[in-house]
Amino acid sequence: AQSMKGRDFLMLVDFKKEELQYLIDLAIDLKAKQKAGETHHLLKGKTLGMIFEKSSTRTRVSFEVGMYQLGGQGLFLSSNDLQIGRGETIWDTAQTLSRYLDGIMIRTFAHRKVVELARGATIPVINGLTDLSHPCQALADFQTIYEKKGRLEGLKMAYIGDGNNMVHSLMMGAAKLGMDMSIASPEGYEPDSDIVKQTMANAAETGSRLEVVRDPREAIADADIVYTDVWASMGQEEEQKEREAAFANYQVNEELTKLAKADYLFMHCLPAHRGEEVSEGVIDGDHSIIFDQAENRLHAQKAIMAAIMS
Ligand code: CP
Ligand code: NVA
Repeated sequence: AQSMKGRDFLMLVDFKKEELQYLIDLAIDLKAKQKAGETHHLLKGKTLGMIFEKSSTRTRVSFEVGMYQLGGQGLFLSSNDLQIGRGETIWDTAQTLSRYLDGIMIRTFAHRKVVELARGATIPVINGLTDLSHPCQALADFQTIYEKKGRLEGLKMAYIGDGNNMVHSLMMGAAKLGMDMSIASPEGYEPDSDIVKQTMANAAETGSRLEVVRDPREAIADADIVYTDVWASMGQEEEQKEREAAFANYQVNEELTKLAKADYLFMHCLPAHRGEEVSEGVIDGDHSIIFDQAENRLHAQKAIMAAIMS
């Protein structure tokens, strides 16, 4: 834990297995304290700036509430109102904000921007989603799976759909934590090949099996976890129609989930396009744990902030 003090939280691949497990344990501990009404002001008097260049419901609310529960304060900073929107450099913004704040969370498009911000800042920077990755969501998801299944190692996750930011972070985490993962994406929409290479190398070390296939039925066979995400992510709205055609056979529905384990769990980072990537029956069905995932954003991010900002 001590080793995490002052660090950025940009990608799950930057963290060792023990560090990720530590964060999950801390999240579970903070969740219990919160539910018991026990004060846990690990960040008393500290402040987190939250820069948003894209919309958000879960990330915004969970970070702001999380800071409050830790005894600190979150500040919502819309990029429309910041000088960054008028061309002030990322470097100058990072240097300036470092004089006021104890941490910065940023949600943006190009991942490079977050890396630049972290380089310019003298305080920890947290990736609240980029086009490349979504590590806070993935950490909360692994916490949720651990709570439900009692373990992570040896479980199989099937990810059906777009090779996007979400699957990248899930792959990075699964490879480190020893979970198997089978990903099915249509041609042209596979996960980033460099990330696949890197996570496969990590998977070889932990013994986790990772594969990218074409057929969703192959990916979902005997899966413990079935995960999907929207076909068109934020910033890809104009591709919606062509993506609907490409992903037509990739809907997670009652027929497909018959092939998963009988006690499979359905997961989605939300927001969902009901009736597109997932049928109403599956997302609202008994196997769905989508709101437990959403809740754990709060607890997992409190653990991240407590570990790197205290
Ligand atoms: N899952 C997630 O990050 O949701 P928001 O876009 O609402 O923050
Ligand atoms: N892949 C989605 C995730 C939203 C939380 C997007 O980037 O829009």
